Amino acid sequence: MSTIKYLANEKIFKLDTPGSSYVFGIIDEEKFLLHMYYGGRISDDDIRYRTRTNDYPFTPEKNNRDRGAFLDSAYFEYPTEGVGDFRAGCLRLRDNDGHAGCQLSYVNHKIYKGKPGLEGLPATYVADANDATTLKVRLEDKLTGLIVTLNYTVFEDLDVIARSVGFENAGRDTLYLESALSLCLDMENEDFEIITLNGSWARERHTDRTRIGYGRHEVSSTRGESSHQVNPFMAVLNRETTQTLGAVYGFSFVYSGNFTASVERNQHDSLRCLMGINPKGFTWKLTPGETFTAPEAVMVYSGSGLDHMTHTFHDLFRDHLICGANLSSRYKDAPRPILINNWEATYFDFDDEKLLSIAKEAAKCGIEMLVMDDGWFANRSSDNMALGDWYVNEDKLKGGLKKLVDAVNNEGLKFGIWVEPEMVSPDSDLYRKHSDWAIAIPGRPATLMRNQYVLDMSRDEVAEEIYSRIHAVLSSANIEYVKWDMNRTLCDLGSYALDSDRQGELCHRYMLNVYKMQKRLMDDFPNILLENCSGGGGRFDPGMLYYGPQIWCSDDTDAIERLRIQEGTAIVYPLSTMGAHVSDCPNHVTGRIAPFETRGHVALAGTFGYELDITKISENDRALIPAQVEMYHKYNELVRAGDYYRLASYADNGFYDAWEVVNKEESHALVTYIKVMARPYTRSNVIKPRGLDPKRRYMVSCDKNILGLAGDSYKPLILHGDTLMNAGIMINENAEEMKGDFRSALIEISAV
Ligand code: DGJ
Repeated sequence: MSTIKYLANEKIFKLDTPGSSYVFGIIDEEKFLLHMYYGGRISDDDIRYRTRTNDYPFTPEKNNRDRGAFLDSAYFEYPTEGVGDFRAGCLRLRDNDGHAGCQLSYVNHKIYKGKPGLEGLPATYVADANDATTLKVRLEDKLTGLIVTLNYTVFEDLDVIARSVGFENAGRDTLYLESALSLCLDMENEDFEIITLNGSWARERHTDRTRIGYGRHEVSSTRGESSHQVNPFMAVLNRETTQTLGAVYGFSFVYSGNFTASVERNQHDSLRCLMGINPKGFTWKLTPGETFTAPEAVMVYSGSGLDHMTHTFHDLFRDHLICGANLSSRYKDAPRPILINNWEATYFDFDDEKLLSIAKEAAKCGIEMLVMDDGWFANRSSDNMALGDWYVNEDKLKGGLKKLVDAVNNEGLKFGIWVEPEMVSPDSDLYRKHSDWAIAIPGRPATLMRNQYVLDMSRDEVAEEIYSRIHAVLSSANIEYVKWDMNRTLCDLGSYALDSDRQGELCHRYMLNVYKMQKRLMDDFPNILLENCSGGGGRFDPGMLYYGPQIWCSDDTDAIERLRIQEGTAIVYPLSTMGAHVSDCPNHVTGRIAPFETRGHVALAGTFGYELDITKISENDRALIPAQVEMYHKYNELVRAGDYYRLASYADNGFYDAWEVVNKEESHALVTYIKVMARPYTRSNVIKPRGLDPKRRYMVSCDKNILGLAGDSYKPLILHGDTLMNAGIMINENAEEMKGDFRSALIEISAV
């Protein structure tokens, strides 16, 4: 259903996906590559309609006198800075004499089946070459000899276009890339808005929707990671676009370091959307013959609202991104074990006996894995010391790691471990031996965060040494899970190993070696479940998903705070990627007390697990765990592989949240309803599920007696899909079982 064509007479490229078309062409005798159209699918026959040559009376071949007017208004596929386009561009090229300028012209192209990987970088993939078609367009800057290759891939059944860019210095002099973005989309403004995912530590990825005024709107990170504050995602959508109606363009960057995502509304009321590595602080030196690859950005078009965009991203990530680094990773498509993590249970205060007592109690409740968090190595008794010294502390784990792991395995639980490979404490043997391995500007005391420095992972010898230390630990016992943490951002950007004209490469080289280490980890231990983490969700991005299937969503485990965090995250990322645990109350971050049941229902919309001292929680709460474990097993397939629908948002209505997952066969759905704030004297609330088969009959059941009008006695409903989707399900919020704040219910919809 997806194709890429080159219409030779018109000199036009047309990329079609099932529901979208993307068109650009070669214009003028100077062979500019200009964008023509992106949106709902259009016929090939009408292709000339949008060739736009009439829009450009001042193309240089007709009127070079006004070349500047052309360059500053044309819709470029890959705009360059310095020669007359005053909008932010994709490429800023500086030559060896210090001049910045570049103009790209078409050279040739190639269309072929399949999708090549990007050397050293995460990227979407296809297991079978027939599932994708790729176009490579080669451009050149005649003066410097820089070759730029634009890569576009369409996937057989998805409204996705994946883009990346390659650079090669085919000239005779050294060149510097000062900006080398991955995506540009120029288009008319239609009173568009943008959605971005913003927040902070413990408040990651809250949805922000705002109108695009004149000027440039940017979300970006210079923190060396994608960050808690912003996510490498942006959607551009019509003002009237809803979950189910209207156009939306979604952009996601498959990268975990510094990024920019921006939209600029200019003097002509056109928009330029850009995405790529953040140019701030970035330079990449290209000596003759050297190459550079800009990471992948993916674009999704939906003509039917946010639901379709979300489903497309979820399907793309599940089928073509997650664990792409090693397709034989055990957890690529498999259910994850229910884990219990000791962080919020003990913090640094634990030993082997304490962990074993947690494991024993967890085993009784059906929990499947114990994860030992921070504090197991060297003299790490607080977050003040020992990062980098990856040797087991045998005072804490008496008899060593293997003894503990074997004992936990004997209880019937798997064993997982926490590491933070990219960091070093000033108070550590590693730092005392290799202080120049920390990122710092020589002579300037580097800024501490959580009393730690960042290791200079751009240096191969540093990455090698740390990897071999971690490898030794993982090989020493039956470890089946790794939580890879990163608890501070990068600043004081200086590497003792890079030449002065390569210091601007530090952050990207750092990422490349982190990716390399994670690839090695998955190649060496394909049975390990890798969960990435960064002080909660500071590196929750598609790049990380290429290595491990899940990421710790946030250090905020409060069920009510998690509603907004998980809602924003789920706009782009599948539920199966979101690390979510039931934790203790009052919650350690917010102090809020929510029912144990609600905490379980919220964590169910993620990977599900526990983060509490199971030996200390109340008897009543502990007694609920076996049923929650059963609930996870019953619904996990649905949550992991189904289509997700946002039905109601507490962030919008102030009172309740509801979401739904429906299997691909439309035979089974689960609606989660969270009553956040009690509302007295209200009528039954109506929730309208989506994604069901209108003609099929479904049985609707609920774990509480709340379906129907107040006072009805409980009985499962049997209704057609069209009735359920149009007339909705009535929920009696004031029923006895739902009284109070923070109450929740699960509604199951099964075809009969
Ligand atoms: C931050 C993580 O998000 C927490 O879950 C925990 O692992 C701590 N780091 C440990 O230092």
